[in-house]
Amino acid sequence: MCDSSYTDSVKLYAARRHEALFSNNIPASDRPVVHLSSHIGWMNDPNGFSIYKGRYHLFYQYHPFDSVWGPMHWGHAVSNDLIHWEHLPAAIAPDERYDSDGCFSGSAIELDDGRQLLFYTGLTKTGLKPDGTPEFHQVQCIAYGDGVNYKKYEDNPVIDSDQLPEGASPQDFRDPKIWMGEDGDFRCVLGSLDAERSGQILQYRSSDGISWEYEGVLASNHGRFGVMWECPDTFALDGKQVLLVSPQDMLPVGNDFMSGNGTLALIGHLDDETGALVEESTQPIDYGIDFYATQTLETADGRRVMVAWMQNWDTTFVGGGRPWFGQMTLPRELSVRDGRLYQWPVREIEEARRNRVAYEGVLVQGLCELDGVRGRCVDLSLTVRPQDARDPYREFYIRFAQRGRYHSSISFRTGDHFLKIKRKHSGLRRAVVKDRKCRLLSYDGILRLRIIIDRYSVEVFVGEGEQAMTMTIPTDPSFDEINFYAAGKAIMDVEKYDLV
Ligand code: FRU
Repeated sequence: MCDSSYTDSVKLYAARRHEALFSNNIPASDRPVVHLSSHIGWMNDPNGFSIYKGRYHLFYQYHPFDSVWGPMHWGHAVSNDLIHWEHLPAAIAPDERYDSDGCFSGSAIELDDGRQLLFYTGLTKTGLKPDGTPEFHQVQCIAYGDGVNYKKYEDNPVIDSDQLPEGASPQDFRDPKIWMGEDGDFRCVLGSLDAERSGQILQYRSSDGISWEYEGVLASNHGRFGVMWECPDTFALDGKQVLLVSPQDMLPVGNDFMSGNGTLALIGHLDDETGALVEESTQPIDYGIDFYATQTLETADGRRVMVAWMQNWDTTFVGGGRPWFGQMTLPRELSVRDGRLYQWPVREIEEARRNRVAYEGVLVQGLCELDGVRGRCVDLSLTVRPQDARDPYREFYIRFAQRGRYHSSISFRTGDHFLKIKRKHSGLRRAVVKDRKCRLLSYDGILRLRIIIDRYSVEVFVGEGEQAMTMTIPTDPSFDEINFYAAGKAIMDVEKYDLV
């Protein structure tokens, strides 16, 4: 159908040629094992996370020619299990008048006629602002394809700034998330800045994916959480309506929202008359360092699964000198319980587990190493309790990615219930954020952690997934020692698998 379209585009051809020439030089041993990393060059937001012809597709913001952000293409990967990904050739390039400065974030959907539709933001530079910085225009565009090759719609854009509500900024109007409504019409939500320069999420409806009608505001920031709201996604889950957004330029609230550009879940219900979200609760999605721009899909068996870019915008200059930059988080299954968003590693990861090693009732007093508990690509579950509840241990930590002077850690203090992730000795050579802490919401005397370590990252899930903390590490992947420490006496159960 669109098999020769990419050769019509000099830019896409150049990107694919660059991939073909250079990506094979990257050994598998220099990539994460169970996380998607960039084919070559730079990766940011997940895009088009969806099922097409029975396979999972994950596109991403992509600059193949360098390991820093640049004119955005869409990179592309497919998977049968959400865990192991195969790179496909770049999907789209910034090669049209309406997207010549970038194909920004968006989503994808399988159409009834068998085609895959990509819905993305086209970016063009329109001039300079009075302060001399460039001014951009953002419009929404579509492309049709067969799962590998895509052709942009001839009458793009399909949503232009004349379809914005009054006062909304045409410069900040992006990241469409499309889905099929129960009535058979397409819906989408978009990030926007309102007249007060505060984030809002706009809703549109279409019967054909081409002609879109503005339907109203789904949610408004009112100056509370950062400024512009990027990368919206909304869905019904466990009797609630959930909206995930990534606010830019956030101020911390206590120990929460420390990432500058962070993530936020709003949970509530839809107003029958206006279609707007009536908020009941809000929370950070992840409490760690490297986590932004979430996107979800629904699996064939009805699970809501989320991925995010496993990176913080402010530390992207710490590239580590590799030819690829950027990783996605592990896909996480979502649920809502008691008004909170829970997340848990997608169950397919259990198929990637090998070599179970388990210990029960280990007394940890000072430093402790356990036979068989080591590795840089592991799924580790821990349960830690005081030996004597009347005289609890003061601090517990696990060190990993360790050798000689290098290690990273996850520590917990029983006095104030703070869980901390730390990468001070991970090999980072720049003055960037090296730790982050969060207060556990439901500590009942037993610390329960599930920890996924994969060469250049760690993801920590607390309890049944009511809190998560994510960070990247640059440490040499052969540094694989793991050990435990308690100030006082702790009793620990451990279960560890290698991930392959
Ligand atoms: C979020 C974001 C999106 C935009 C894309 C550009 O990280 O700023 O809003 O579409 O990245 O790469």
